[in-house]
Amino acid sequence: MATIIIATGRAVPSRRVGNSELAQQIDTSDEWIRSHTGIGARHIAGGETACSDLALEAARAALSMAIQGGMIREKTLEELALTVDMIILASTTADYIGTPSTACIVQDKLGARNAGAMDLTAACSGFIYGLEIAAGLLAVAAERRRILVIGSEVLSRITNWNDRGTCILFGDGAGAVLVEKTAGEGPGRRGLLRTILGADGSGAEDLIIRRGGSRNPYRAGETVDEPPHVEMNGRGIYTFAVKRATETIERLLQAEGITINDVDRIVPHQANARIVATAGKRLGIPEEKFFLNIEEYANTSAASIPIALDELNRKGELREGSLIMTIGFGGGLTYGGNLIRW
Ligand code: UT7
Repeated sequence: MATIIIATGRAVPSRRVGNSELAQQIDTSDEWIRSHTGIGARHIAGGETACSDLALEAARAALSMAIQGGMIREKTLEELALTVDMIILASTTADYIGTPSTACIVQDKLGARNAGAMDLTAACSGFIYGLEIAAGLLAVAAERRRILVIGSEVLSRITNWNDRGTCILFGDGAGAVLVEKTAGEGPGRRGLLRTILGADGSGAEDLIIRRGGSRNPYRAGETVDEPPHVEMNGRGIYTFAVKRATETIERLLQAEGITINDVDRIVPHQANARIVATAGKRLGIPEEKFFLNIEEYANTSAASIPIALDELNRKGELREGSLIMTIGFGGGLTYGGNLIRW
């Protein structure tokens, strides 16, 4: 059995906020942001847009690609949506806290009436976790065939716009992939070949939204000065990210018995171009091997890898047989990576 990504999609809000626009509101500069992160802009959702809206748009784009590509029998979006068995939605900025899941809202609006639906919280590693969970769900039930894995974020809603240490980093967006189970064995087989998933909860406080959950709920009568927002230990995450990204690349290569020359492209979580450059340098990997679009979209957490995959795919850079590695790290703390034969 193989789990193959048969189509990709993305949704990015049209409002583009360049570094210079941010520099008019807080004490920063285009030069500082570019030199410390590689970010040039971010896209910000309008006030009415929630996580499920971007997720739905990305999911529809993926389903449309599958139909237009002619790789499936179904001819309309409605027909195809009915064949989806599960929706896995990774996010840190769900429409609601706890319930309903954002995946259920997408399931309804997409008309995926035969699908189960669930959210996944693994911050920026969420999509990597989601792919492996999808492969597992396909493996354990013969009748399951198609799963949508979505990463969607409206990070602008949990950003403290007065904190220059974090607000320059984040952007909004969603990416989705449609995976399908096919027969496939032996050398050269396509699909998800291997995944590493890890966590280090001792770093939980390094990236945290303190208010609003069961640990620190808002209480009746309380005056709230500011909406819940993310707090980050930038240095701590940076060190963790470089270490875990480096290790995960090495472990994936070793486990598969291949070298970096066998990998066509590494699609890292787009958190900071310097993290990627440092990990690449430590392992002697040429910079061109990594696909980076952080300059345009900034850090979109769980959405960053599927957005990047869709961008590469639509450029025609993911050909059948290409070997793609994803690498991610983020809040939790979590980390991981997938090796995918496209
Ligand atoms: O998806 C995972 C989530 N997060 C991450 O991946 C973040 C990982 N960490 C990072 O990317 C980096 O740590 C940052 C980009 C957040 C910060 O870069 P840094 O080189 O670690 O800067 P720093 O926090 O050590 O700050 C250095 C200086 C400080 O000034 P002083 O104290 O040296 O005078 C900061 O106040 O830079 C200052 N600074 C800024 N200056 C201009 C911090 N943010 C800014 C800013 N503009 N936006």
